[in-house]
Amino acid sequence: MRRKVIAGNWKMNMLPDETITYIDKLAELVKDTESEVILCVPYTDLFYALLTAQNTNIKIGAQNMHFEEKGAYTGEVSPKMLKSINVEYVIIGHSERRQYFNETDEAVNKKIKSAFEYGLKPIVCVGETLEQRESGKTTEVITKQTELALQGLTAEQVENTIIAYEPIWAIGTGKTATSEDANNSIKDIRNKIAQNYGQNVADRVIIQYGGSVKAKNAKELFSMSDIDGGLVGGASLDVQEFSNIVNYNK
Ligand code: 13P
Repeated sequence: MRRKVIAGNWKMNMLPDETITYIDKLAELVKDTESEVILCVPYTDLFYALLTAQNTNIKIGAQNMHFEEKGAYTGEVSPKMLKSINVEYVIIGHSERRQYFNETDEAVNKKIKSAFEYGLKPIVCVGETLEQRESGKTTEVITKQTELALQGLTAEQVENTIIAYEPIWAIGTGKTATSEDANNSIKDIRNKIAQNYGQNVADRVIIQYGGSVKAKNAKELFSMSDIDGGLVGGASLDVQEFSNIVNYNK
């Protein structure tokens, strides 16, 4: 059976002192969970988060990285830099990066390969816009994004990639996909992975749902057959709310 992975994406929020207070509190609140708990924090919080999360079951991730190891890329952070301070996860291809920073499927693919090269575990985001959904293109869009993101990876790497299905229209809007719709879209992604990498890989790959996940809808979403947890934005900024999401089955 696949494990549940529940990750917070703080986006551009939280300062170091808030990070320390939050993680100290979260550690206590989620110490008994069987789910994997990850917090993806801004670069400036990473070091504090890693120190505070030591000896807890909370894992720390970044929200983006460059695919090159080093070089003249002002303002960028490399996978080697993240690895050097023991960051474990990295979100790749979040829709906000695709939308506001022109991140392409090609760049997403390069970043995933590079993450593996440097020993980081990627959390790869895919999802359709409202317009694509309304014109009946959801399956086509999300399976294509998945295919392009994973192109050239080994089956083992695909198995170790976390995919986050995040319908763009559900992000930060308070609108969630129904649990059936989210589950069906995730099944579509899983079927595409089965086609390309075999059923065993598809059965093992973790696919999360993201988009207005809250404590009040987490149980219903995470109980679906193919939804292996969530990538949580806004609701992860409140430690009590996020811990309730992690403890959805309690
Ligand atoms: P919200 O939970 O705020 O809708 O954000 C989802 C998201 O983008 C997580 O990466």
